[in-house]
Amino acid sequence: MEALGVDIGGSGIKGAIVDTASGKFVTERLRIETPQPSSPAAVADVVGDISAHFNWKSAIGCTVPAVVKRGITMTAANIDRGWIGADARSILEKATGNPVIVLNDADAAGIAEMKFGAGRDRDGLVAILTLGTGIGSSLFIDGKLVPNTELGHLIIRGKDAEERATDRARQERGYSWKQWGKHVSEYLEYLESLITPDLFIIGGGVSKRYQKFFPYIKCKTEIVPAQLRNRAGIVGAAVAALDLV
Ligand code: BGC
Repeated sequence: MEALGVDIGGSGIKGAIVDTASGKFVTERLRIETPQPSSPAAVADVVGDISAHFNWKSAIGCTVPAVVKRGITMTAANIDRGWIGADARSILEKATGNPVIVLNDADAAGIAEMKFGAGRDRDGLVAILTLGTGIGSSLFIDGKLVPNTELGHLIIRGKDAEERATDRARQERGYSWKQWGKHVSEYLEYLESLITPDLFIIGGGVSKRYQKFFPYIKCKTEIVPAQLRNRAGIVGAAVAALDLV
């Protein structure tokens, strides 16, 4: 079975057709710059273009960096505030002419990692954290997703964890790997004290450089880098879209 996966991020909107049995891309990945402002209407136009580019006439899974309940986007931490309360599913279905399932970006990345990556065959409580512009979280209990956890916004030392433990913070504040690794560690140690997971999977583009910061992470929980990297959002979205067909 194939589905179109689309990953809406702060800087790029990416799509590819995915073979949902293997998690492999069937086509090249198409990336289009995220319009600024990234209003629902402007973003929907781009998703419409991506769907048309692939001449796609079936289910689409689409990620957003927001809490999503029944197709409605409820938050907008790192995207245009116009998404708050927007009927994302209807807007994207209209723009593409296809049935669309909308889900949180970290939930999509988690679905992909659990099915094809670092979380394969892992039971118990698995927490996937994506460290990028924001911190995305997804939780799986015995392989089943608990959606819309927003564990990236835990308050640590009086500040949202995103202020110190994102890859954006590392770059913008010029943290060394050691400084940043310690911030990530503080975040993960706090999180493990709250939820006692069996496994942490660290995703986001920076996870390919895990050897640079994993040595500074002192939590007790087993920790591994994600395996699907920048394909995870698209693949997880496509897998989620299977619910529509
Ligand atoms: C948002 C989450 C999102 C994460 C990663 C956070 O700021 O609140 O919904 O999953 O960034 O994009």
